[in-house]
Amino acid sequence: MSLPSFSSLLLLSLVMAMVAFVSSIQDFDLDLDLDLEGGRHKQREFDYFALALQWPGTFCQRTQHCCSSNACCRGSNAPTTFTIHGLWPDYNDGTWPACCTKSNFDPKEISTLNDALEQYWPSLSCSKPSSCHGGKGSFWGHEWEKHGTCSSPVVWNEYDYFLTTLNVYFKYNVTKVLNEAGYVPSNSEKYPIGGIISAIENAFHASPQIVCSKGAVEELRLCFYKDFKPRDCAVGPDIKIDMVTSKGSCPQYVSLPELASSGRDELQSWVADEVAL
Ligand SMILES: *[C@@H]1O[C@H](CO)[C@@H](O)[C@H](O)[C@H]1NC(C)=O
Repeated sequence: MSLPSFSSLLLLSLVMAMVAFVSSIQDFDLDLDLDLEGGRHKQREFDYFALALQWPGTFCQRTQHCCSSNACCRGSNAPTTFTIHGLWPDYNDGTWPACCTKSNFDPKEISTLNDALEQYWPSLSCSKPSSCHGGKGSFWGHEWEKHGTCSSPVVWNEYDYFLTTLNVYFKYNVTKVLNEAGYVPSNSEKYPIGGIISAIENAFHASPQIVCSKGAVEELRLCFYKDFKPRDCAVGPDIKIDMVTSKGSCPQYVSLPELASSGRDELQSWVADEVAL
């Protein structure tokens, strides 16, 4: 046997071994497969961003027990404005890429943003979301690994992902827009969903997407082109219809509940502030 044919045989068996290895793992670990350059499941570049915001008044109603990671448990310091859920790269057809690279979340990379993130991007639950690479992790780790890693070529690293998201959140203050239009947190009022949508459209010149839970606003999503100019969240007839009729959508009149778990604390500190003034 000559040397060239021996080495090509060796190469062939190596390739075959790799193919067998890849097929054996792809069912169990999609992310590993995704990570291989040119792999079958390599995800294409996203089309637009959704900034997903959560309404603590609705989320915190679910708090059964407290823990240090749940901002609903901060008493009078619990968040009373929309907080960040995540910045999500999306496709126009209603699907989205997920877990695009094997970049594990490293809290040290965003330590300088920690105070801002605790305030504006807190977890509103005690459960640990699953990370992309098996196991469970922090809320921030989940958002970075699942969504953040798919935001290239706009956002390339973890620090950039969190800073960019904070900046967009500061620039487009949904709580302020709704308050100014008369949609203030209340446990008795119900507001027309069309009015809430119009208020956002008038302020940002783009349609949001709103998710409700038991008739209460749970999440509000603002959408952006890759240069962060606002755009409509729903494009194409399928998604528009789906938005109006799908199970997770909102009734005609919705509530924007006040924080229930810390109501007493809040009232007291509010009264104290008024007295001090
Ligand atoms: C958004 O507006 C509300 C109400 O005016 C205000 O309390 C809050 O601090 C603002 N949020 C940010 C991130 O600027």
